[in-house]
Amino acid sequence: MAKRETWNSQLGFLLAAVGSAIGLGNIWRFSYMAYSYGGGAFLIPYITALVTAGIPLLILEFAMGHERMGSAPLACRKIRPGWEWLGWWAVIFVMFGIVLYYMVVVAWCLNFMIYSFSLAWGNNPDTFFFKEFLQVASSPWQLGGLRLPIVAGLAVVWLINWGIVYRGIAGGIEVANKIFMPTLFILTVCLVIWAVNLEGATTGLKAYITPDFSKILSPRVWIDAYSQIFFTLSLGFGIMIAYASYLPRESDITRSAILTALINSGYSLLAGTGVFAVLGFMAASQGKSISEVVSQSIGLAFVAYPKAISLMPGGKFFGAVFFFCLFVAGLSSSISIIEAFISAMIDKFGMRRRPLVTLLCIAGLAGSLVFATKAGLLWLDIVDHMLTHYGLVVVGIGECILTAWLFNSALFRDHLNRVSSVKLGRWWDVMIRWFIPFVLGIILLSDIIGEINEPYGGYSWQAIFFIGWLWILGTISAALYIARKRWQERPY
Ligand code: PHE
Repeated sequence: MAKRETWNSQLGFLLAAVGSAIGLGNIWRFSYMAYSYGGGAFLIPYITALVTAGIPLLILEFAMGHERMGSAPLACRKIRPGWEWLGWWAVIFVMFGIVLYYMVVVAWCLNFMIYSFSLAWGNNPDTFFFKEFLQVASSPWQLGGLRLPIVAGLAVVWLINWGIVYRGIAGGIEVANKIFMPTLFILTVCLVIWAVNLEGATTGLKAYITPDFSKILSPRVWIDAYSQIFFTLSLGFGIMIAYASYLPRESDITRSAILTALINSGYSLLAGTGVFAVLGFMAASQGKSISEVVSQSIGLAFVAYPKAISLMPGGKFFGAVFFFCLFVAGLSSSISIIEAFISAMIDKFGMRRRPLVTLLCIAGLAGSLVFATKAGLLWLDIVDHMLTHYGLVVVGIGECILTAWLFNSALFRDHLNRVSSVKLGRWWDVMIRWFIPFVLGIILLSDIIGEINEPYGGYSWQAIFFIGWLWILGTISAALYIARKRWQERPY
């Protein structure tokens, strides 16, 4: 059996974990949520979720990978052989689901980076994005051919991912993140300084931080804060398990988890500052209020921002740097997904990394194409909704049941306390055993109830079933199938 690969340094591991955590979600999802959920007051549910669920679960995923020394399926199997499927399901729906459309959004960023130089969206970024760039179809069943600029971007994005993961842990992913993360931080700081100096920026910042305590009384805000923490820390993806399995035996796990969480949230706050300063500027220069210029998720980056870029002195350059930042943040997350799957395949079948990565990236590019058709945005929306709501959350609950109910989480705690500087008390077991499954259970339940009341996003039942639910069923079946296959001779 080949020796398990390892990171070159603790810092390399930390940067890779941070790279996975910081992604597109930190920039637009967080900003929009903070704004619409009570500004500064939103920090209360957000930080509560971070401390009570995010950090304990991140510690758990690190512990599973490190103590059991394996990718998600191997770690689950070593805890309970019958639960190997859970690990497979995580890495399969993430690899053959989330990453396929995530790459498409990264490809959009690449296109928009180039468009910035000529302000290609003209006077009407809304029409440009939906009608000219995406040419969105009216129903998910009208694929209507591929959008070539997106396909070209995709080819580049998959090629870069291939080039990095191909080189392995220390030589590929670690080196890439050591370049990506400092670059991203420096550029983001430059953008934020630029943004807060624009005219009207303070109006935007005021809207961003003014606390509205009445908003946080709604349960929806709390549920969304927990979901956001879960997504932003890449929990339930199987990524953090795989990354921690490449750490040497003596590694400070709890400290790394706390640092990853703090840096990730710090980055979100910073990015939010930049985003709202720009919106403030835009409102001021058009004589509108903030609520008129702000828009949700995708619209924020690809519609509201281009508008601001056109208005701003030196906007072309600002725009290119902004989309480049999104691109880098996206890349450092996408490589982590590919690695989570590769790591599982190497563990189980003893396959060689390089041919496997090549094959997988070709398959991935092919799979991404459906999201690059004219119906791509609709597919993206449905698949994203299903996998992030019913995939990640279920995996999170499964991890808690597996370790705290069917196994003994104190064993993990002892291991962590032996190697780490920050010691865990019994509170951690209580969180894993009771609190986190409870909260995730509520999220799941409220989503299911919402789903029954009306189909997500106004799509037809057929679309939700044939695209969304079949995607879930297909990946679960694949996980059950692969979990029954024979292991290589001596996987551990
Ligand atoms: N943490 C990422 C984000 O906030 C989520 C993610 C991780 C998405 C890995 C894709 C891959 O965007």
